[in-house]
Amino acid sequence: MKGIILAGGTGSRLFPLTKVANKHLLPVYDKPMIYYPILTLKKAGIKDILIVSGKGHVGGFLELLGSGKDFAVNLSYEIQEEAGGIAQALSLAENFASGEKIVVILGDNIFEDDISEYVSEFESEEDGSAIFLKEVANPSSYGVAEFKNEKLIGIIEKPLNPPSSLAVTGLYMYDNNVFDVIRTLKPSTRGELEVTDLNNYYLKKGMLDHYMVKGFWGDCGESVDTLLAVAQTVKNLQTRETQKITKQHVVQKNTHSGVGRI
Ligand code: DAU
Repeated sequence: MKGIILAGGTGSRLFPLTKVANKHLLPVYDKPMIYYPILTLKKAGIKDILIVSGKGHVGGFLELLGSGKDFAVNLSYEIQEEAGGIAQALSLAENFASGEKIVVILGDNIFEDDISEYVSEFESEEDGSAIFLKEVANPSSYGVAEFKNEKLIGIIEKPLNPPSSLAVTGLYMYDNNVFDVIRTLKPSTRGELEVTDLNNYYLKKGMLDHYMVKGFWGDCGESVDTLLAVAQTVKNLQTRETQKITKQHVVQKNTHSGVGRI
C-alpha cells in the first residue's frame, strides 16, 4: 500500500496568505500543514509517500521535507502543472503506485484518527475503494453523502441543499484500477476532474465502502477562520495528549501517538 498527498491547487480561499507561500506549508499551530498528513500515513505504517504539488512550489516542499529521512519515510515528488482538480492531481501518481493499492490524503486535511485498522482491512480486501465521512455543521462546503434507507446512494459536491450533514473528508483508498477510471472522467463545470465523480463511479459499481471518522477532522483550506480554528483544536489535542502521557509517567520524547506528534 502506498500513500499519496495531494498538495497542488491554488489555495485561493486563503489569499493573500497563499499569494507567495504554498497553502500546505503554512503553519497549523506548531508545524507546517503538510506534516499532519505525512504523520497520519506514517502512523498507519505507510512509508512510501508521493507528494503532488504545484510547479511553483515544489522547491519549498523539497527544502522542508527532503527525502523524508527526518520522518523515517521515503518521499517522492510529482508536479501538477496546473490546478486541474483533485482527480487530475491523483492521475499523476500512476507510475509511483505501480500497481499497488493507494491511500490518498488531501494536503490541507488534518485527522486525529489512527487509520491503521482501515488501511490493513482495505489491503486484504478485493478491489474497490473507500471514503471517510464526518458529521459537520456546514455540509455545503464539502462533498456530501446522500443516504436512502441507510444505504449510501450518492455524493454531491458542495450542494446548496445538502441531503445529509455527512461530509466526505479528504481521505480516500483506491484499488489500482483508479487510474483507468480517472481517464474516463470529464471535467466538471468548473473545469476540474472531480474526486466526487471518481467516488460516484465506484459507488455505482457497488465498489465504494464508507467509514465514519471518529476523532477530530479539519479542512484547513476552507477559510482563514477555519485555519485558525483547526490550529487551536490541534493545540488542545496535543496538550491533552501530553497531559495524558505525563500522568501515565511514560514521558517519551518522540511518541507517535496523538494528532501531529512526530
Ligand atoms: O476537504 C474535503 C473536501 O475536499 C471534500 O469534501 C470535497 O469533496 C473535495 O472536492 C475537496 O473540496 P475542497 O473545496 O476543499 O478542495 P480544494 O480545491 O480546496 O482542494 C483540496 C486539496 O486538494 C488541496 O489542498 C490540494 C489538493 N488539490 C486540489 C486541486 C483543485 C490538488 O492537489 N490539485 C488540484 O488541482
